[in-house]
Amino acid sequence: MKKLMKTGAIVIAGLAVLIISGSVYFTLTYPKDIPVINVKVVATPERVERGRYLANNVAVCIDCHSTRDFTKFSGPVVPGTEGMGGAIFGEESGLPGTVPVKNITPASLGNWSDGEIIRALTSGLDKNGESLFPIMPYENYHTMSEEDLFSVVAYLRTLKPIENEVGKKQLDFPLNFIEKTMPIEVYKPFKSPDKSDMKAYGKYLVTLGACIHCHTKAEDGKLIEGMEYAGGNEVKLPFGIIRSANITPDVKTGIGSWTKEEFIQRFKSMASEQAKNIEVKQGDFNTTMPWTMYANMTEEDLGAIYEYLHSIKPVKNAVEKFSPMLANK
Ligand code: HEC
Ligand code: HEC
Repeated sequence: MKKLMKTGAIVIAGLAVLIISGSVYFTLTYPKDIPVINVKVVATPERVERGRYLANNVAVCIDCHSTRDFTKFSGPVVPGTEGMGGAIFGEESGLPGTVPVKNITPASLGNWSDGEIIRALTSGLDKNGESLFPIMPYENYHTMSEEDLFSVVAYLRTLKPIENEVGKKQLDFPLNFIEKTMPIEVYKPFKSPDKSDMKAYGKYLVTLGACIHCHTKAEDGKLIEGMEYAGGNEVKLPFGIIRSANITPDVKTGIGSWTKEEFIQRFKSMASEQAKNIEVKQGDFNTTMPWTMYANMTEEDLGAIYEYLHSIKPVKNAVEKFSPMLANK
């Protein structure tokens, strides 16, 4: 018996050494040390304008990084909050933890180098080399062209500085460890996409738009394979449950029967000032789809997105887009 206990103690001590050295190894290894590229972005007016377009109408950085007003249809951005952050991702989207959106105005990024911002956008590390949670879609921005990246950086520098200290991120075990293994290798400069191939150009825009994240059902934070763009991803908000639409070319349950003109029109109908001011009563249909932001994409870009979405695999998946939260529940 005594001998057995002694063996047990040795095994436990051995395990403890393994766990401790394992976690020391982990902490020293992750996140990977990804170098910052040495670059100084020259802020030409063309770049600032292109960056404004990408950040507000395509990659919609400003959508996540500002305050959205869900008393109005599609939660338009509250003017004056652009880039200040502070919204919190958590339980409502099934996340085990809370991830506040960071302040990206010059009040917060003022002392970051251009290379550090580019590393955050494309590799997922902050100024101190800490990993960013991939709700920040750096995996999507990894393939952004060099010129577009420079443009976004030039635009961010022009945002009105807003002092806003956002809360601390908290992730449950094991996600807090998994997060640190996620940042991706150093970015390599990509050329601007070639518009003569509309499908490829549309794919580039859909990637920057990170449409896939909202439009694909996920399990334990991972997109379900085979269900890409088929919708049904849920967000529970105080006024109801919103589910994303199926935007694969399935004729019955997706957008297969839409013409290109109808597709473009659906976005453009949200471009007016009135469209940013449609009051929604508690329990009435509302959506997280940032229609008012995408509405100012050019018709050419919307057309390219249509071409790409119509080239992907159709998936049959009927989605009920909205269930109102009943007042007596
Ligand atoms: C889907 C929402 C979402 C979108 C879209 C988005 N971000 Fe973020 N971003 C976040 C979140 C959440 C964080 C914080 C992540 C964390 O703390 O781990 C973040 C962090 C950052 C950071 C790091 C700031 C810091 O202080 O650590 C930068 C820089 C940034 N985002 C810039 C951008 C830019 C530029 C774009 C558009 C090209 C963009 N983001 C699009 C959600 C988003
Ligand atoms: C923040 C989440 C979010 C993002 C990002 C997002 N969508 Fe959506 N989208 C939704 C939701 C939710 C709906 C369903 C409710 C509605 O129709 O507004 C929707 C609906 C749509 C519809 C209408 C489909 C129908 O059957 O009526 C289209 C088309 C669409 N999205 C395309 C896109 C494209 C293209 C992108 C990327 C450029 C994108 N979405 C990005 C959440 C999102």
